[in-house]
Amino acid sequence: MSTEIPTAVICGLGTCLPPRVLSNEDVRRRGVLDTTDEWIRSRTGIARRRQADNGTSTGDLAVAAGRAAEASARAHADLVLVATTTPDRRCPATAPEVAHRLGLGTIPAFDLAAVCSGFLYGITVATALLRTGVCARPLVIGAEKYSSIVDPLDRDTAVIFGDGAGAVLLRPGVRSEPGAIAGVDWGADGAGSDLIAITAGGSRQSDTSRRLCREDRYFRMQGREVYGHAVRRMTASSLAVLGQVGWQPGTVEAFIGHQANQRILDSVADRVGIAPRHRYGNIRDVGNTAAASIPLAMADTATHNRVRPGSRTLLTAFGGGLTWGAIALRWPSAVPGARDPEPRTTDTTPHPTHRRKQQWKPSTTTS
Ligand code: COA
Repeated sequence: MSTEIPTAVICGLGTCLPPRVLSNEDVRRRGVLDTTDEWIRSRTGIARRRQADNGTSTGDLAVAAGRAAEASARAHADLVLVATTTPDRRCPATAPEVAHRLGLGTIPAFDLAAVCSGFLYGITVATALLRTGVCARPLVIGAEKYSSIVDPLDRDTAVIFGDGAGAVLLRPGVRSEPGAIAGVDWGADGAGSDLIAITAGGSRQSDTSRRLCREDRYFRMQGREVYGHAVRRMTASSLAVLGQVGWQPGTVEAFIGHQANQRILDSVADRVGIAPRHRYGNIRDVGNTAAASIPLAMADTATHNRVRPGSRTLLTAFGGGLTWGAIALRWPSAVPGARDPEPRTTDTTPHPTHRRKQQWKPSTTTS
């Protein structure tokens, strides 16, 4: 019998990107913004992003990504966690309906709000639950429809964000195998809670107020200040988790940071000591997709077979809250699945069968 420490192992990867592509020029023209394609590319690394149409919700993207991750793992989840800043409704959480639409019956399901750090927070929580035996196959989904909260007239945010979803299915395993979570570091500092925020819509300021101005209704970010925090926190968290697991930065073969801004990612990787050839991501094509950004970048990298399964891997993220985190893991061997968004109205997933003990069967749902 193995004496290795048990942990969570990524055994399935799935994504969903809405089909509509918005170029930088499309974003500029839509908001009549004082910006250029050249500025956006050179200051952020973003050339295009996806945008969901009006009839597609965060939950729709999450269902498609979750289904693709289950197919990739050939297994069903026994817990669903949706990390998102853009839930389908303020109440209830999006995850229970996602689990229901995945045909998973009455398994536990909840949302996690940590803005752009949501996916890494989700993996951290799921790993802890798995290690204590609370669940055996948690499905962690990062899903966002930022187009529903970004002001098209605000050039600070409109040029950055995109829509999409990414998901991983975890199972119990040992630290030496591909996909294994080796260590986590996470933190938060509410002193910076105003730097990234939607002012109205919560208990502090209702969004039924007649006086609600544009400034309060939409997502706002103090970009320049956030930039500095992002570099500092992701660097420190990365070094902390590498120290925890005893990996020298020079031995990391795959680095994926939250796709906020290519310049931030390069700065963090330089400071941590990760060589450019070990840095991966797809910010150029999808922009900043908040909680979805790390699984989308992982799936893109895995699809192109860029990293050998089992390689030492470092993930790091930073977001509103302020929140941040870093995870050390072995690169997974899972082959990613991808699905188009599935409109709620055409979803024919059988329910409410409790599949916890059922064998995995491919979904017959068409989208
Ligand atoms: N198009 C053209 N010019 C722009 C612009 C845009 N979209 N946004 C800002 N500018 C201008 C500014 O007005 C400023 O002009 P000035 O020098 O004449 O005053 C200049 O560009 C530099 O502004 P600055 O705010 O320093 O830009 P930046 O290089 O910091 O880039 C962000 C702005 C928002 C892209 C960048 O700050 C950023 O990515 N921030 C952090 C994002 C992040 O990490 N989020 C984490 C959670 S999602």
